[in-house]
Amino acid sequence: MADLNPSGAAGEHRLDVAALRRDFPLLEREVHGRRIVYLDSAASSQRPRSVLAAMDAYYETTHANVHRGVYAIAEEADRLYEDARLTVGRFIGAPHPEREVIFTKNATEALNLVAYSWGRKNLAEGDAVVLTEMEHHANLVPWLMLAEERNLDLRYLRVDEDFRLDLADLDRLLDGARLVSCTVMSNVLGTIPPFADIASAAHAAGAIVVADAAQSVPHHAADVTALGCDFLAFSGHKMLGPTGIGVLWGHEELLDAMPPFLGGGGMIRDVRLDGFVPAELPAKFEAGTPPIAEAIGLGEAVRYIERLGVDAVERHQIHLTAFAQERLAEKLGDDLRILGPRGVEGRGGVLSIAYKDIHPHDLAQVLDQAGVCIRAGHHCAKPLMRRLGVTATARASLYLYNDEADIDALSAALADAGSLFG
Ligand code: ALA
Repeated sequence: MADLNPSGAAGEHRLDVAALRRDFPLLEREVHGRRIVYLDSAASSQRPRSVLAAMDAYYETTHANVHRGVYAIAEEADRLYEDARLTVGRFIGAPHPEREVIFTKNATEALNLVAYSWGRKNLAEGDAVVLTEMEHHANLVPWLMLAEERNLDLRYLRVDEDFRLDLADLDRLLDGARLVSCTVMSNVLGTIPPFADIASAAHAAGAIVVADAAQSVPHHAADVTALGCDFLAFSGHKMLGPTGIGVLWGHEELLDAMPPFLGGGGMIRDVRLDGFVPAELPAKFEAGTPPIAEAIGLGEAVRYIERLGVDAVERHQIHLTAFAQERLAEKLGDDLRILGPRGVEGRGGVLSIAYKDIHPHDLAQVLDQAGVCIRAGHHCAKPLMRRLGVTATARASLYLYNDEADIDALSAALADAGSLFG
């Protein structure tokens, strides 16, 4: 594997992107005869060889089901699966990873688990839940479903003209609230709300706090204690890991008091024909054969990011976000608008673009011809689209394997699209 931290000086070095890109086989391919420029990591990142190798090695040498067998490879599979839980837990600063880290299918399932299990046990008619206008559908629809069933009072923090959360109303919205669920970084705007402040105000008002960290954990040091959340949800596939695995972290005492989400094998201590006793944490929330290879792959993805240094990954993102804003403004002028905060303060590397009057899907198709992969659409955030007064945006999202040349390719392809449609 490439030497990813060439200067070795924490706090000083920049990522050696040219070297680390060689770890990502997909980035070696061409599309339409052009070098691939992958700018859609907010939808799903690519993965390095070490992640693919860890999963292959498990299937080739160690595959057996977990928590069931007493033979050697089953015990080895158990160890690999539980090691992955500890690795992921350490990465997010979980105080008790062995019990508090639940493997799910994705961040969406993790958020549904909280709404279904904590929500159904604790929320009754008229109870208030505070969300924001910039949430992904994964952090809206589970609450809307519960609100329909329980007649909850859903309240929303507004998005202001600078694409940030308007906190002027926070105290009023929190009055009597039982739960606050908020993104740690918007998948459309890149906005990073002052999550710890919101969490602290929510706790003071007696609410529990859920963090949708799907976009932030891949890029920023995550610490559940510093964030001040009670639950934190994220996915593996946006952080160099495989699809099919997500994580829910929750405070042990909250998880302990919650009923199971899905029922089946693995999540019980006893079953009779007239009832069952659930297993202890974390098994209580992991019904059926879990995503074993995927958990192992996610553990390896975490180790890859840790070898780079999560601070270096974050600094790279800040550098590239600033570079992209400057370069796009310089090359495309006022014809291009970025729907997201200006500068790098309180924002990450997600750039939602409106360019001339070109429809985002047309832009994405023209960019594809140049090898540039971006996402166009509503980004699973339709209420936010309505708030912004658009039906869709074209979105470029940056990750640790992107560099200045990728931004130049994006701006050149946008300029070509401008000429084509202009
Ligand atoms: N949530 C992912 C995105 O924003 C799929 O693109």
